Amino acid sequence: MTPDEVRFVEDPSAKAFHSEPATDRGASFVVPRRFVELAQAAAAHQSSGRWATMYRVLWRLVRENRRLLELPDDPDVQALAALQPLQTALSGFELEPLPMAGATRQASSAAPIVPAAADLDGLASAAVACTACELYKNATQVVFGRGPAAAQIVLVGEQPGDQEDVQGAPFVGPAGEVLDRALAEIGLDRRSVYITNIVKHFKWEPRGKRRIHQTPRANEIQACRPWLEAELAVVKPRVIVCLGSTAAQALIGPQFRITRSRGQFYPSRWAPWIMATYHPSAVLRAEDPSGADAVYRWLADDLKEAARRIIPGTPPSNA
Ligand code: URA
Repeated sequence: MTPDEVRFVEDPSAKAFHSEPATDRGASFVVPRRFVELAQAAAAHQSSGRWATMYRVLWRLVRENRRLLELPDDPDVQALAALQPLQTALSGFELEPLPMAGATRQASSAAPIVPAAADLDGLASAAVACTACELYKNATQVVFGRGPAAAQIVLVGEQPGDQEDVQGAPFVGPAGEVLDRALAEIGLDRRSVYITNIVKHFKWEPRGKRRIHQTPRANEIQACRPWLEAELAVVKPRVIVCLGSTAAQALIGPQFRITRSRGQFYPSRWAPWIMATYHPSAVLRAEDPSGADAVYRWLADDLKEAARRIIPGTPPSNA
């Protein structure tokens, strides 16, 4: 039966579910393990629509697309994700234990302080006051996106690094130098591109006198996300390029792997095209010069392909 033909009615007097033995053994099917995890968590949700949502996703996984769960923009996948505790929904990221057994962590979000209908300057000014997650405490300042509102390409990194934290602008440190080199090589003017990060505060831990980058956690990414959503809503780019896996997993899907799928273009809800490539810092971290050359080549080539998708002759008005 198709999802539209099924109606789920809960019987509050029922003490437990029971199932009939399957009579038609030929009707069994295999679903991704991920679906079973998501369905288990969704079953515990209070929403009366949860069974219909699970059935719809299950039906589509079996009948339509076995890789459905890899489409974060799909409305049914989103509905199933909305039935998840925050940390399960973002399970592509490192999970951390809840602070107290049995306690539910309140998901914090920048949403209440993101001004509606603000331009990029208005958003950047409002972000200065953001305390939606803990990261503001150890950062020098918020590092908001930079670039023209009319940019056709948005580059999204992970979070500001040490230099960015000090200077207050994205990609101005060593990774920024690699990015600048690649942009210059392919003839893309940095001033025509909007550059931002998934997380707007530098997350670090001390090591001697140095501040060492730490990957943001799922709850920090989630808390910061309304800023990025607002930036993308203002810029309305033609192409989004995710630099590195944190951005790619947040915007394309938690299963995304740069090594497997870099350079591939997907439609998205923010732009006609979204793609992910290596983070410029991967060039710096490569073990040897030939590895660095290879990663740099992929980065530059992928950026070049992204640049080919912009509409020529429409330079940003406010570059
Ligand atoms: N790495 C990032 O992801 N973003 C920056 O702004 C700098 C380094």
